Amino acid sequence: MNDSLKINTKHGSKEVSSKNGDIGRPFRYYLAEDTIDQKDINRLIAWLKKSPRLTKGEVTLKFEEKWNRWLKRSHSVFCNSGSSANLLMYDALLLSGRLKNKKVVVPSVGWVTTIAPAIQLGFEPIMCEADPDTFGLDLNHLESTLKKEHPSTVVLVQVLGIPHKMREIMMLKEKYGFILLEDACAAIGASYHGQNLGTFGDMASFSFYFGHQFSTIEGGMVSTDDKQLNDLLLMLRSHGWSKDLDRETHNALVTSHNIDDFNAPFVFYEPGFNLRSTDLNAYIGLGQLDKIEWIISRRQKNHHRYKMHLAQNFVIQKSDPDSRVCSIHFGLLAKDTEERRRIVRALTNNRIETRIFSAGNLGLHPFWVKRFGKTSFPMADRIHRCGFFLPNNPSLGIKDVDFISRVVLAGRH
Ligand SMILES: Cc1ncc(COP(=O)(O)O)c(C=O)c1O
Repeated sequence: MNDSLKINTKHGSKEVSSKNGDIGRPFRYYLAEDTIDQKDINRLIAWLKKSPRLTKGEVTLKFEEKWNRWLKRSHSVFCNSGSSANLLMYDALLLSGRLKNKKVVVPSVGWVTTIAPAIQLGFEPIMCEADPDTFGLDLNHLESTLKKEHPSTVVLVQVLGIPHKMREIMMLKEKYGFILLEDACAAIGASYHGQNLGTFGDMASFSFYFGHQFSTIEGGMVSTDDKQLNDLLLMLRSHGWSKDLDRETHNALVTSHNIDDFNAPFVFYEPGFNLRSTDLNAYIGLGQLDKIEWIISRRQKNHHRYKMHLAQNFVIQKSDPDSRVCSIHFGLLAKDTEERRRIVRALTNNRIETRIFSAGNLGLHPFWVKRFGKTSFPMADRIHRCGFFLPNNPSLGIKDVDFISRVVLAGRH
């Protein structure tokens, strides 16, 4: 253990106290650390020694049920990534017959695969400015788009585990009657007025990729209270067959299509995908759920500590006081790109990993520009030009956050 670290600034260096100065890793502090620890690996090895079935089976069902109980939703479908979860949500919605048009409001700040399925499946995406407080959908821009374009669908990203203004969003949903897809891929464990994020939308997606709140190596989930949507999700996850549906629904389909028992397992009702995960990943997920409250409390404490140090000098995401934040990184905006460059240099010099804020403004990325033209908004562009991430993960403690914050503050000048 080496409790002393040097902050290198262009004005010289000073000693500060921190965690271990571990040698042999390019960074002292990584943005993300694996939440699958040695104990989880030992459990997994012991389980594997019993030669269990590894493809999707009973353990996946157990994981989905345990997740439902924790999240407080009726149905969940485990798949192989958060991106796949988004694809499943869009496609289930499309096949549900509920859309009066294919217009969909998409966020400017989020992830490419929050929007990609809209393009892949022939929706008409309309991009929305970022909210100055939460960096989610800007409510004024959203409402003017709802009035002008009457989109059937709105996709909301809960940016980095900071709850969006859900009372206002749900009031708009009520008023304009859109279907809400909630991308909670980076918001597991956060809540708004006591309600978990990922339970507001008609469907919600989650990611269990390394670096998210918890990990199943790769993995994702779609959750919903809507049985019809859940049936579609289950079929679309696995080729379009009915085998994963409850017996009653499966039998009703078999009967209504006049199919004999021998054919029944291999009849395809929808043009599906194969987006399944495996029981191995689900087994890891069960263990992650056992420690989720610990993970949340660590991330939350770190987040609040960063806020205490940095809120006065930077624009940061704000949340309703009656909400629980569970961030995967601490995001902040420098004064300008130049200041960001200086801070990034200071962080790198001190072996602290950093990166741009999510993907900045998605409206400036080639995949969007070549189809819809450059889409600039004042807030989203500001996030693009000035945003950056600091590490937040359960292996960091308060002293680490104190050190990283000091590097950021010193790095401004
Ligand atoms: C908001 C959001 N949506 C979707 C995804 C995609 O998740 P995955 O990496 O599991 O495909 C991410 C990944 O970071 C994300 O941040």
